Amino acid sequence: MGRKKISIIGAGFVGATAAHWAAEKELGDVVLMDILEGIPQGKALDLFEASPIEGFDARVVGTKGYEETKDSDVVIVTSGVPRKPGMSREDLLDINKKIIESVVSQVAEKSPKAILIMVTNPLDTMTYLAYKKSGFPKERVIGMAGILDTARFRAFIALELGVSVEDIQTLLLGGHGDEMVPLPRYTTVSGIPLSQLLPKETIDRLVDRTRKGGGEIVNLLKTGSAFYAPSAGAVQMAEAILKDKKRILPCCVYLDGEYGLKDICFGVPIKLGTKGVESIIELQLTQEEKALLTKSAESVKKSIAELKL
Ligand code: APR
Repeated sequence: MGRKKISIIGAGFVGATAAHWAAEKELGDVVLMDILEGIPQGKALDLFEASPIEGFDARVVGTKGYEETKDSDVVIVTSGVPRKPGMSREDLLDINKKIIESVVSQVAEKSPKAILIMVTNPLDTMTYLAYKKSGFPKERVIGMAGILDTARFRAFIALELGVSVEDIQTLLLGGHGDEMVPLPRYTTVSGIPLSQLLPKETIDRLVDRTRKGGGEIVNLLKTGSAFYAPSAGAVQMAEAILKDKKRILPCCVYLDGEYGLKDICFGVPIKLGTKGVESIIELQLTQEEKALLTKSAESVKKSIAELKL
């Protein structure tokens, strides 16, 4: 039995950091691909040279072409332009559309059995584009957003309470924009409902910070967007798939009637395993949560319409 193969398209901040997490976790051999000459090869070689020190066995190869990505088990797509201060994720649509169209068709041709994990923004729209362009079944095209957004919410709750991040469990629905729908009602700290530990005003403040969490990092970095947490999220998905962990995680998937939504890629809780999306879990929602979800879906639908597919 050979090792699994993970290809990462885009060797920028998110892609290179994803390669780092994936190799260190020994999820398989890693191929780092970019259109820039020297960057993917240099970063891959440097990372491989770290392996004797850190003690992980994973080949890491950098490349400018798709040949090395052939027959990947998982492909993480991070190619594209990140935001700068003052930009919304939607402002990236036109430029990233062209990049994703070209990348996904080549990935699909070389790795027809792969599971695609999309990271490029605007996330829901790029996941939809990848689903349409790849021709893959809907179970095998999944966007990474909910893990990042819930990680931010978990981190803020842990800071507020002064407790371990590990003990915070939460769920989130909707698009990866400022209208995402964090769910305090589905949030616990070691099983204790969040509402028993924090007053509503504090929870509202943390929800608001979560919604604007990406922008907070962009405003601090000024030259790009978040990369540690997004890449960790993508690699958590890769791990769930490659180890068939059947984790319940909020991910962006194609909906065909679930939550009353059709023909949209949208964030919902799924069971993630070796087949990709193994099931979609439909939560019971209050009227208020449903209204927030509808608003988020409307903005994602508008963005998808701009693809003019
Ligand atoms: N094929 C392969 N790689 C490409 C292509 C392409 N057609 N077009 C661009 N790239 C590469 C760039 O050369 C660059 O190295 O994608 C990389 C993007 O890296 P960064 O500019 O560092 O951006 P990053 O912070 O990694 O974000 C990438 O993820 O979170 C999202 O919003 C973010 O859409 C952005 C993406």
